[in-house]
Amino acid sequence: RKPLRVGIAGLGVVGAGVVGLLQRNAAQIAARAGRPIEVVAVAARDRARDRGVDLTKVTWAETAQDLTQRNDVDVFVELIGGSEGPAREAVEAALARGLPVVTANKALLAHHGADLARMAEARGVTLAFEAAVAGGIPVIKVLREGLAANRFSRVYGILNGTCNYILTKMRQEGRDFADVLADAQKLGYAEADPTFDVDGIDAAHKLSILAAVAFGTDVAFDKVHVEGIRHVSAVDIAFAEELGYRIKLLGIAALTEAGLEQRVHPCMVPVDSAIASVEDVYNAVVAEGDAVGTSMMVGRGAGAGPTASAVVADLIDLARGFSVPTFSVPVAAKVALPSVAIDKH
Ligand code: HSE
Repeated sequence: RKPLRVGIAGLGVVGAGVVGLLQRNAAQIAARAGRPIEVVAVAARDRARDRGVDLTKVTWAETAQDLTQRNDVDVFVELIGGSEGPAREAVEAALARGLPVVTANKALLAHHGADLARMAEARGVTLAFEAAVAGGIPVIKVLREGLAANRFSRVYGILNGTCNYILTKMRQEGRDFADVLADAQKLGYAEADPTFDVDGIDAAHKLSILAAVAFGTDVAFDKVHVEGIRHVSAVDIAFAEELGYRIKLLGIAALTEAGLEQRVHPCMVPVDSAIASVEDVYNAVVAEGDAVGTSMMVGRGAGAGPTASAVVADLIDLARGFSVPTFSVPVAAKVALPSVAIDKH
């Protein structure tokens, strides 16, 4: 059968991971997708860098934009990152042309998700973003498909791998914040600008996307109350431990009488709770639904493998012809939810 021809913009940790995974598991992926999935063209700043993957058969496009205009590309994969600039322009160009898009870009979706969903729907194409939230946990598919019958009251979890890694290593090894952060950067967990991780912004991006999917409402990133982990000291962690608690950066979206409450901040969780045992780069997402009850998912939240796993899952969906509305419901069916303001303390 005809292959699904992929164009990838951005060949950093995740981009190289996607190319590698598509090559390594090509036969099984083709069997599951019903046809081969082939990377035909790429765009990245540095052509010479050795990424440990075979790029001999791909064509290099000058820019991400150029990639969206090629007739030999069936799907545009955006792995550049950033809510503005080349990533946004290329995704918009692809959707305007009626080209399906797969992205891992949570910042882009948090800021422009509503507009992009509208564009995708107007052109009848898919905008897929499993990799944007919680890396290796297929939480978008779980909330949107697996648990689609439920009315959710709350969705919360550990949504930033870098912060969880830092908090874990500070506690277990008594290491310094800056030292562990440098490690997380080396391992390819952190954002290009790691302040997005440690100040809670990345977790807030993901939370606003999860809330939109779970509650069938608009992404409201600007309404998320955000605090990061910069002010959490080794002493805080030790005291919490003495009291029987562990400090975790949680993102919480809850449906209240007054509307949708969204917040990201460090929380003390009992050491014997399931979420306390989620350590290192692992993320956790807990969904509370009226039919299913409490459902908890755990998996690696960052890094090349887990993120590539999610990107390729979206490509397999596309190859199979599977398509769903971007944020669970068609744009016209979205629920308008007032946002609950949270006092700063
Ligand atoms: N910097 C992010 C994290 C990457 O640490 O969770 C995955 O989105």
